[in-house]
Amino acid sequence: MSDGALLEVRDLSVVFDGFRAIDGIDLTVQHGELRFLIGPNGAGKTTLVDVITGLTKPATGTVRFEGADLVGRKEHEIVRMGVGRTFQTSVVFEKLTVVENLDLAASFRRPLWSLIRRRRGVSDAVAAAMEITGLDVLAERPAGVLSHGQRQWLEIGMLIAQGPRLLLLDEPVAGMSADERSRTGQLLTEIAKDHTVIVIEHDMEFLRRYASQVTVLHEGKVLTEGSVDEVRADPLVQEVYLGRAREDAAVVPEEHAAAVATTAGEVT
Ligand SMILES: Nc1ncnc2c1ncn2[C@@H]1O[C@H](COP(=O)(O)OP(=O)(O)OP(=O)(O)O)[C@@H](O)[C@H]1O
Ligand SMILES: [Mg+2]
Repeated sequence: MSDGALLEVRDLSVVFDGFRAIDGIDLTVQHGELRFLIGPNGAGKTTLVDVITGLTKPATGTVRFEGADLVGRKEHEIVRMGVGRTFQTSVVFEKLTVVENLDLAASFRRPLWSLIRRRRGVSDAVAAAMEITGLDVLAERPAGVLSHGQRQWLEIGMLIAQGPRLLLLDEPVAGMSADERSRTGQLLTEIAKDHTVIVIEHDMEFLRRYASQVTVLHEGKVLTEGSVDEVRADPLVQEVYLGRAREDAAVVPEEHAAAVATTAGEVT
């Protein structure tokens, strides 16, 4: 294992009924990185996260986390080892309050006796998760009444309460307002101070503001890696996104085609 690498994915492939959703991916993430993962729909981004977190079994390859291979381990075992993730769709308990959701998430790592004994107050892990996400003011609200953005922050808080060293976030700002996006960007920057974070994201403006290292996936392969500017300037990346925009332009009426052409340079 190379020095400092927290996560090392090597020669990873995933096959669904003969279709190679992931086709020989290598990915190295160092301790303390805030790494963005982008790529067109179906590129294999979520599948990669699914493999790292034990949800999907790869056909070939290894996933080393702090030197230990994660392939073949159960999902809960991987969580206990310090790898946490959010899903593209929300998984909070709507009837439970914010603090109860956080407490439940944190309890995953607590010994059984501490669960049986009724505790007073909130644990340090829950307090820290509330503080970093700014959810302390909403502690007693049922999760079901939270706005979309607040719900996403709760999910991120639930991850943090589990004390992971690696966080994998699947499109955390999808569907958020501009204000919620910038709050989430600040939250990720804050979290990345003492965690390693991998974020799947499509929004280029968000990447420009908050990303340093970016990995681009396309058709199950790593297309390129680098800074946001390097990646945007890469002809291969432009071809992948421009090619898609051209196909779109062919099926939209002429007045809309002009709008597509102007935004075609944008990696989304
Ligand atoms: N369980 C599954 N069974 C069969 N095919 C699947 C399964 N999961 C994913 N795929 C296929 O694998 C490919 C990669 O999917 P994946 O969800 O990883 O893409 P993605 O990059 O996350 O896309 P998006 O941006 O739309 O979320 C797609 O073609 C998808 O249809
Ligand atoms: Mg996805």
